[in-house]
Amino acid sequence: MATNSHKMLLVILGATGAQGGPTARYILKYSSHLYRIRAVTRDPSKPAGRELASLGAEVVAADFDDEASITAALDGAHAIFTITNFWDKNSLEIEVGQGKLLNRIASELPDLQHYVFSSLPDPRGLAGGKFQGILPYNAKAALREDLKSYPALHSKTTEVWIAYYFQNWVKYQAVFGPVKQDDGSFMLAMPYPASTKIPTCSSDDTGALIHSILNGREEYYGKTVALIGDLLTEEDRVKIWAEGLGVSARFLQLSPEEHLRKVKSLGLPDDLAVAVNQLQESLPLEQAVMEATGIVQGNKILPKDYKLKTWMEYVKEEDWSSFD
Ligand SMILES: NC(=O)c1ccc[n+]([C@@H]2O[C@H](COP(=O)([O-])OP(=O)(O)OC[C@H]3O[C@@H](n4cnc5c(N)ncnc54)[C@H](OP(=O)(O)O)[C@@H]3O)[C@@H](O)[C@H]2O)c1
Repeated sequence: MATNSHKMLLVILGATGAQGGPTARYILKYSSHLYRIRAVTRDPSKPAGRELASLGAEVVAADFDDEASITAALDGAHAIFTITNFWDKNSLEIEVGQGKLLNRIASELPDLQHYVFSSLPDPRGLAGGKFQGILPYNAKAALREDLKSYPALHSKTTEVWIAYYFQNWVKYQAVFGPVKQDDGSFMLAMPYPASTKIPTCSSDDTGALIHSILNGREEYYGKTVALIGDLLTEEDRVKIWAEGLGVSARFLQLSPEEHLRKVKSLGLPDDLAVAVNQLQESLPLEQAVMEATGIVQGNKILPKDYKLKTWMEYVKEEDWSSFD
């Protein structure tokens, strides 16, 4: 067994979040003999930070806006799982600034062997260039470009695309989920047909995926790995959800203009409303992008006995009490 000093130091950014949290927990559970985990959060005292510490992680405080803290958090890393959160400040400029700082600091680490960059596809070339305003996707594209200015780091990078989380309905119900109508039923109103299949997954499955990527290391240098957990029509997704909760629900197709009005009515600023509208409108094209030639399919590299969560399983397990 590797002694502590012989283990790889894996620094997990966003370690209290939807992707970093499961990554930290999975690796602490299955590969603590190989990796020392340094989990990064702005606030180690919050429950998610304390939980990681109780599982054996070194939990450190660092802020992507504070260079000295990030330099200290990444010091000595052999591998890094990196993610930036557009939705923290709803700002492309801030997210890109944070990601560029992370790239630069990572590029200067002498012992770094693997940089796993959680990103998203770039839809700007799709549909005749219609989707130029999806800010979180554009931020990831800018960071992908930025990485090319560090050839040594770029050559050790694996890019990861996690599909639209199942959890988005609970976290952002008004924008992404079914909303209660006056008659007590629920309606999911989106700018695409009910028959559209959208790649989705439980963000919890990120953990097993990142573990496989880290274990494969060189095999995934320079590759993009996409994770799709379930692929259902939106009509079926709503049906399974309604049956699971014992409620009445339906899907309604809106035109993009109607959907934009719906999003604006929630009080989102114009650029964010356009971003959300275009994000939803582009989702029907996402399967082809995520399954394009050359993209490694995450479900093919997981352990043979690993089962990705299905939407039906997720619906049964989730706490839907916040829905009204
Ligand atoms: N929703 C989806 O379907 C989906 C799919 C694929 C990719 N994404 C992308 O995933 C990203 C968000 O990641 P997530 O889903 O893991 O978010 P999340 O669950 O909200 O967690 C965000 C994580 O980022 C950390 N963080 C945020 N700002 C930070 C800062 N200034 N300094 C240090 N840490 C900071 C948070 O740490 P603390 O709060 O503990 O400090 C937390 O651990 C977004 O950029 C989004 O575009 C989303």
